[in-house]
Amino acid sequence: MTERNPDGNDKRQAPYFNPGPWMGTKGPTRLKAPKKAPPPPHPSDLVTAAGHLVVPDFFAEAPAMRAAIDAHFNNPTAHGPDTHQIWNYWHVPDMYTYLRTLPRKVISAELMGSFWNHLAAWTRANLNCVPSDAYLSLYIDGCRQELHNDALNGHFGYVFSLTRWRERRFSGGETVILKPGALGQSTAGGGAMAGSSFYDLVPADFNQLLIFDDRLPHAVRQVNGLMDPLEGRLVIHGHLRRAE
Ligand SMILES: [Fe+2]
Repeated sequence: MTERNPDGNDKRQAPYFNPGPWMGTKGPTRLKAPKKAPPPPHPSDLVTAAGHLVVPDFFAEAPAMRAAIDAHFNNPTAHGPDTHQIWNYWHVPDMYTYLRTLPRKVISAELMGSFWNHLAAWTRANLNCVPSDAYLSLYIDGCRQELHNDALNGHFGYVFSLTRWRERRFSGGETVILKPGALGQSTAGGGAMAGSSFYDLVPADFNQLLIFDDRLPHAVRQVNGLMDPLEGRLVIHGHLRRAE
């Protein structure tokens, strides 16, 4: 026969009266404050930890900047010396091969001013740095940067992409950035390492801002594929210095 509590409940069931923990041996219950979500990591901490930081959809007027570049390269038979003989074919043997110019020679001063102000405000607020220079660079077939650092050029490097990356028909063009600590890990005998164990490959996605530690060895993988500038790797890049 089933044993029953005074109110008739089956004793095998859970106690019909829960005295609460304040009646037990564990002492008084203390209400715990709800756990606060940890604050998001600061951008400068992210750069320190990973060596670089990627900010997608950086500038609302990126499509207008790209439209200016398209207009510049379109209709090549109508190009004149004043408007188009502005590109520096920068070739340092075994080191750099690409074309570069000042962005304001292709993109209007108003639009570049707007970009510059946005970049300066973002880098000042997030990295306590401001941009010091800017190049507009074009990589077509065979263009690249070999491994180097910019330790004397700035605190951080930046690369803002105006490349139609997702529609690209070339290979290469990623920014190569050595992982912080990779060499130390390798020389400490931590095991076999190769390729992306040593570095990160950062695509030049359209309207993406890449920030990286200027002291880290970095490069641009050789672009292989096309000669058409409209289908090349197009970026605005430079360096950031500590804000005064
Ligand atoms: Fe560099």
